[in-house]
Amino acid sequence: MQAKGKATLEYTDGKTAEFPVFGGSIGPDVIDIRTLLGKTGMFTYDPGFLSTASCQSAITYIDGDEGVLLYRGYPIEQIAQHCDFLETAYLILNGELPTAAEKAEFDSTVTHHTMVHEQLTRFFSGFRRDAHPMAVMVGVVGALSAFYHDSLDINDANHRRVSAIRLIAKLPTIVAMSYKYTVGQPFVYPTNNLSYSANFMRMMFSVPTEEYKVNDVLVRALDRILILHADHEQNASTSTVRLAGSSGANPFACISTGIACLWGPAHGGANEACLHMLEELQARGGVEKLGEFIAQVKDKTSQVKLMGFGHRVYKNYDPRAKLMRETCHEVLTELGLHDDPLFKLAIALEKVALEDEYFVQRKLYPNVDFYSGIVQRALGIPTSMFTCIFALARTVGWIAQWTEMIADPEMKIGRPRQLYTGAARRDLTPIGQR
Ligand code: SDX
Repeated sequence: MQAKGKATLEYTDGKTAEFPVFGGSIGPDVIDIRTLLGKTGMFTYDPGFLSTASCQSAITYIDGDEGVLLYRGYPIEQIAQHCDFLETAYLILNGELPTAAEKAEFDSTVTHHTMVHEQLTRFFSGFRRDAHPMAVMVGVVGALSAFYHDSLDINDANHRRVSAIRLIAKLPTIVAMSYKYTVGQPFVYPTNNLSYSANFMRMMFSVPTEEYKVNDVLVRALDRILILHADHEQNASTSTVRLAGSSGANPFACISTGIACLWGPAHGGANEACLHMLEELQARGGVEKLGEFIAQVKDKTSQVKLMGFGHRVYKNYDPRAKLMRETCHEVLTELGLHDDPLFKLAIALEKVALEDEYFVQRKLYPNVDFYSGIVQRALGIPTSMFTCIFALARTVGWIAQWTEMIADPEMKIGRPRQLYTGAARRDLTPIGQR
């Protein structure tokens, strides 16, 4: 990287230190503070990493103020309109859109890796039937590393590629198995004559007793949901995968850490929490009670948050939320559910919030999770599976970001420091004298 300038820090006793400033292709410049400790004896302090760039990346760009999301430079709106999920996965992984021939080969490669080792099915029976499917996924995806000793050398580019294909191909199978296990139905094997998303819907919803009919509108809606969730820069779960990967852990274990982090209600778990919030609001009187609910959200002591609203980066409308709302409308119309009370409640809630000074002042807008629960529910996906679908999609982003990091010659093990506020050195009194 070529420095484009420098930043001078003046600190204790008028001392100064200089640091190079680097620029990316678009977006904010960075001050390279890697020499700060050596030069000043001090750390930076940035809880939650609000102002910290942890890495260089060429995969996804977000402009939070403008509500812009680009995958390898292409606007999410154009990708959602013209591509399917595997085409998007190819772009995120390889940096360029595939030709028709490259796409056909990629689809075939993924399709022929969708089965899981038969021994893997034994892992499920160790869980209670009422286990949350995300708990099952954390365990089963991590266990994949016990099956692929032939591709765990992270420094071998071909091993990295094979692991990426295996994870992208097998996640739908594992997610569907996690669901089938909780409802006590038999696992459904993937079939090679269906598209990625149609295959997933069939593994989720088909039963041995009748022919499964693919609904192309619902499959397209699911495919778009996967596209919208595929990657999102250095969010909490992606940063978790990167940190785990920086120690040299194998890709299956790293993706398992990403799933665990995504589960949190402040992150990927928000879509499940948002639907529960809407259902509870509906039960309490729906639109008539919106004012009461908004007042509760604004009262900090209530600890109630408007789930599906707000974002660390977007201080404008999340472009994915707009596309998700369109998809929601398409699916509900297709299913004759345009009067769905929860969708109408969500629209009304969004309107009330966006007109309320509390939300306007804090730049709180709907995020990707606000409508995704309603559309997934309309697709027949149970609420407890929403975050599993998010993890299925984000596996593409996680493995692309992991691959980018491992291939980066600058990669070091991640090891943040701290501002220590504990006891200074003191001598211990043995228990007999305490
Ligand atoms: C995802 O990072 C990513 O890219 C994540 C993601 C991805 O694709 O990977 O986009 C996916 O995680 C989307 C976010 C899903 N989470 C939710 O919908 C949960 C509800 N949202 C909040 O928990 C919150 O908005 C966060 C966690 C998303 C963002 O938290 P920040 O950046 O720490 O925001 P903040 O706490 O600084 O908020 C500023 C103010 C605060 O009030 P004041 O202290 O200024 O008085 O806004 C308030 C917050 O209390 N606030 C909310 C709110 N979100 C923030 N108040 C009510 N409801 C909310 N949802």
